[in-house]
Amino acid sequence: MSQELLKALKAGPVRGPELARALGLSRAGLWKRIQALRRRGYRIEASRAGYRLLQAPELSAEELQALLPQRLILYKELAGSTNDLAHQLAQKGAPGGSLVVADAQSHGRGRMGRAWVSPPGVNLYMSMLLRPALSPQEAQLLTLAVALATAQAIKGHTGLQVALRWPNDLLVGRKKLGGVLLEMRTEPDRLLYVVAGIGVNVNARKTDFPPSLRPLATSLRLELGRQVPRAALAARIAKEVEAWTGLLQHKGPQPVLKACRALSAVLGQRVLVRSQGRVFEGIAEDIDPLGRLLLRESSGRLLRFFSADVQRLSA
Ligand code: BTN
Repeated sequence: MSQELLKALKAGPVRGPELARALGLSRAGLWKRIQALRRRGYRIEASRAGYRLLQAPELSAEELQALLPQRLILYKELAGSTNDLAHQLAQKGAPGGSLVVADAQSHGRGRMGRAWVSPPGVNLYMSMLLRPALSPQEAQLLTLAVALATAQAIKGHTGLQVALRWPNDLLVGRKKLGGVLLEMRTEPDRLLYVVAGIGVNVNARKTDFPPSLRPLATSLRLELGRQVPRAALAARIAKEVEAWTGLLQHKGPQPVLKACRALSAVLGQRVLVRSQGRVFEGIAEDIDPLGRLLLRESSGRLLRFFSADVQRLSA
């Protein structure tokens, strides 16, 4: 219903009685719906010529659904974690590509048990359900593909060049712009489904980050000096994730690896790698066909990591 109403308001001005009739509503019912839209941030003009939409909020269920019409989309003003909601959708049999987006999260989570700061009104918190025909061993490549897709979507949408810090961080310079968190349910040799959680700092100002994160984090707004509408960015990311994960399934790891190498902030650099309570130092040499990071220690020994935290040492 609100989709139809918004469509009519976008094409407006349209007179109240006409609009109420077209939607099968009483005039009081129409007025209630218009007021409800206004409370959610829609600016709707009412003049003698009728009702007309002046401005839509930059993130809403309707905007997302209009940009991604065929997709199952769940939008929440406040979620615990969008990843949890996407798991629930998966268990109810939702199709691959289904999307959960929230304006804020009370329990946003990052990798390695860290919290993901998720204030309202500024950033993007989204989780996409994937049902790829890949083995659990290939799942690491999916993390790379989703991070890559997000970086490409941001570049396409804003022109900003984003670098990738293996395996899942999006960086601008040395600061973190976003990250991805993949969670999966598997059987011994089969991926049942994957939830790809994506967090991007979009319109956050410095003061939206806790003081401890301010030197380490950035946002599109801080980098570009302008606000970026979130629904359009979310839609672009969803499409890129679909494209890159599809490519991974159909063409194997090489196209994803090639693009990841080109955007990598760590390959060829001296780095510290923290993994399972231990710290290693060396040159980040490459990413192998399973998505593992190859680290060359000064002794010449080559180490392979499936999961780790990487910190760049060289300038
Ligand atoms: C990281 O860099 O540690 C990954 C951060 C992932 C954050 C996103 S926000 C949407 C989704 N829901 C969550 O709780 N986490 C991911």
